[in-house]
Amino acid sequence: MQIVILETPEQVANYGADQISQQITSKPTSVLGLATGSTPVALYQELISRFRAGKITFSQVTTFNLDEYLGLDAEHPQSYRYFMNENLFDQVNIDPANTHLPSGTSINPIAECDAYESKLSEAGGVDLQLLGLGQNGHIGFNEPTSSLGSRTRIKTLTPETIKANSRFFSEGEFQPTLAITMGIGTIMESNRIVLLATGAAKAGAVVDMIEGPIAARCPASILQMHPNATVILDRDAARGLKNGSFFEMIEVKNQQLLRNRLGYSD
Ligand code: F6R
Repeated sequence: MQIVILETPEQVANYGADQISQQITSKPTSVLGLATGSTPVALYQELISRFRAGKITFSQVTTFNLDEYLGLDAEHPQSYRYFMNENLFDQVNIDPANTHLPSGTSINPIAECDAYESKLSEAGGVDLQLLGLGQNGHIGFNEPTSSLGSRTRIKTLTPETIKANSRFFSEGEFQPTLAITMGIGTIMESNRIVLLATGAAKAGAVVDMIEGPIAARCPASILQMHPNATVILDRDAARGLKNGSFFEMIEVKNQQLLRNRLGYSD
């Protein structure tokens, strides 16, 4: 795991946007795995700015989102399809036909999960998967005790996740308690993983993910087994780490190596 600790959420968004920009520039036909929630919004805004400035293009990019609520259609403002259209897809030159999310209203949601896995493997798998982190350590909607080898399937959301996400729903509005999510095994097959976490509310989950044992009680801890995972944190999210200064020292060295490789001298 590469651990990058930055001062602010803005720096986290920019660093994450750099990873995605490099990915789609070096391979214009990249398959990106995408996430919703509050954390990636600033990163998506940064990608939109870079697209508008002519620095990156999405013309050949394909995307697969992690998850979707069961029971919400694409037009519902709280559906993840709606979120992605608003926050990224409608503002860049991606072909809508190349953007994939599980359907929240399929008549047969179990078949929908299998079909999503098939579409993903037909596309050649994910080159770079973007992740957020739940306060309880979830990735996608793989809640604590999810099988670490799981595939795309229907999951029941925990009361904490329902409470954390209730901020997006108005009083009395139907809030789904089930979702379709890529499994942890599915996520782990991505060539590269970039997880962003910002804010003090994530500090406990960050410690469990990076310094805790690999355990189903913290699904994100499985990233310790991934050969190419980068975790980007702001200072508040990183504040519980015992080895924080060690990670910062390594990142300084990584940046020096990168500059030397690119021919810049210190
Ligand atoms: C969303 C997703 C979730 C979120 C996580 C953090 O597609 O997969 O795992 O990444 O719940 O959400 P925020 O960023 O809102 O704190």
